[in-house]
Order: sequence, then structure tokens, then C-alpha cells
Amino acid sequence: MDQPDNFAGNGFGHVTVLLHEAATSLNLAPNGVAVDCTLGGGGHTRLLLDAVGKNGKVLAFDRDSTAIDHARNCFSAEVESGQLVLVHKPFSEMAEHVRAIGLAGSIAGILADLGVSSPQIDVGERGFSFIKDGPLDMRMDPSRPGTAADLINTADEPELVRIIRDFGDEPMARHFAKMICRQRAISPFHTTLELSSYLERHSPYGSKSRKHPATKIFQAIRIAINDELGELDRFLAGAVPLLASKGRLSIISFHSLEDRAVKHFFAGASGKLKRQELSRRVALPEAEIDKMVNAQGRVVASSEAEPSAQEVEINPRARSARLRVFEKA
Ligand SMILES: C[S@@+](CC[C@H](N)C(=O)[O-])C[C@H]1O[C@@H](n2cnc3c(N)ncnc32)[C@H](O)[C@@H]1O
Repeated sequence: MDQPDNFAGNGFGHVTVLLHEAATSLNLAPNGVAVDCTLGGGGHTRLLLDAVGKNGKVLAFDRDSTAIDHARNCFSAEVESGQLVLVHKPFSEMAEHVRAIGLAGSIAGILADLGVSSPQIDVGERGFSFIKDGPLDMRMDPSRPGTAADLINTADEPELVRIIRDFGDEPMARHFAKMICRQRAISPFHTTLELSSYLERHSPYGSKSRKHPATKIFQAIRIAINDELGELDRFLAGAVPLLASKGRLSIISFHSLEDRAVKHFFAGASGKLKRQELSRRVALPEAEIDKMVNAQGRVVASSEAEPSAQEVEINPRARSARLRVFEKA
């Protein structure tokens, strides 16, 4: 099959999802300042740089130093000229960072392409894959404490049930949590294959299940140890005040938990969801909820997108992607 149009082609090994759709949804003009919250292999970053031009600026965040190091080489000219600023921080700290450098209120567009990059999954040593062997790690930022092994071997059983059920949408969460606790009392889990083959052997679904039984459990552990939903909530709460008038916030999500958070936030920020309703649905302190409701703007429904059948065929990871766009008044 031909190389897809959206292949970043820069040696990072990540095929960018909704490449053009996401970049154009920001409506960027030359000389503006844009933020790419999820640099990864830089596929979207490249288009944002093109859109703002030589006199514009792109700030690109990633909490994985592998992505930052790769971009330092791949975009060396843009980094040198100051057109691209690389920031090794979680995007929940983006608002604080942008305020500190005096750019709050002047950002033309913010993009977040959530989830993991292909190399994070494909490189066994990162510990995200239930197919490739490696340490049970799964940290997007390995300089921070708390590996998947720490969680699996020390969380109490009710906590494991909650994580597997809420973040993995696994109906047999109780069963799997019980099995994990039983086994770790005999011998703790250290590697990805130890855990995935144990889950397979003790799956109540038998061998007829289409999906590997570890699929949902690995997703759940990954979401928990990287605090992916907390990161998203804190990022959303801080993002809109950074935008200039008519500035846009575009988010690509990959599972229903993320998409629901984005949808509720956009509904709140565009006045379609009452404050009380929002505080029931979003796990944030009241002061943060106030900020979200006060942020005025509209949902750009015409820019919402899902990948085409062709994109999904070329890149199956795009399958569940969903782009939503918000514009500040
Ligand atoms: C789907 S990839 C982005 C791919 C990128 N758009 C491209 O075109 O190559 C997601 C990236 O976001 C990073 N990431 C995920 N959650 C993050 C967070 N809370 N803060 C900062 N970076 C995060 C991951 O480390 C990963 O590199």
C-alpha cells in the first residue's frame, strides 16, 4: 500500500492521525502563536509551523523526552531560529507555562492529539505493549515515579477493580483484580508478558474472545499511571483563557472517556451545559469549574471529524479518533 499522505516520514515511526483536519481546524494565519500540546513525532507541529510562517511561533509540549529529543534534531533550524520552542512538561502545566512567558490571551490555536505515540507502544522496553516483552513500566515520562508494576503489585483490590472497570470498561473487573492479587501474593509481576500471559490463562472469556483479554486491562493501567483523565481535565480548565479572541482549541481523543470529557467541557464553555451539571460530570475543584463556565465561545461543529475509511485502513490506530473544535468569542 502507498505511504499515506499523513505519514510524518521523519523517522519517529508515528503515523499522524487526522493530520490535515486537525491542523486546518485551528484556522491559523501567518505570524500567530500556536501551541501543540502533544508533539510526538511532530506531524501536526510541522503543519502548525507552516501555517504560522517564519514570523510566527509554535510552542510544542510533550512529557516524553524521546519526543523532545527527536524534535530537537528533526526541527533543528526552527528550534535555532526560535520559531519552535520545545517544552518537556505535561500539558496540564501548559497554562502556567504560557502565562509565565507572557503569552496568555494571545494564542491563536491550541491542539492536543491525546493518547500515546506508536513508538511508546511499539518499543517493548517502554512497557506499554502486552505483545512485546519489557518491564511493566508504561510511564510516558519515565523520569517521574510510579510504574505499572508499582500499581499492579501494590494497589489494593478495590482500587484495582475501580481502575480496570472505569478506565478499561471491563465488565469482569472484579474477577481480573482478584486473580492479579492472588498471583502477586505468590510472586509479584515484573514484565509485560508475565502479566498479559497470566491474564490470558485466567480469562473467563476463554479462547473464543476476539480481543486479547489484556487489551482493556493494559489500557486501564496506562490511563491510571499516567493520570490521563486528570491531565485532560486540568488542561481543559486552563486552556481557553490563553486563547486570543477567535482563537481555537482542537482536540483529538481516542476513547469515550476522553471524548466525553472534551464534549462536556466544550458544552460548558459554550453555555450549553449549566454549572451544576458540569460540576457533576467533571472531576475538578469548584474554582476550576467556574473558570470553565466563564470561558465564552462556541463549538465549531462543522470542524468535528472522524478519520475516513481510507485513513483507518492505512492506520488502524486512527479507528476511534474523534476531533472536536472550540472557538473563543
Ligand atoms: C498521539 S501522540 C501525538 C502525535 C503527534 N500529533 C504527531 O503528529 O506525531 C501523543 C503524544 O502526546 C504525549 N502526551 C500524552 N499525554 C501527555 C500529557 N499529559 N502531557 C504532555 N504530553 C503528553 C505523548 O507522550 C505522545 O508523544
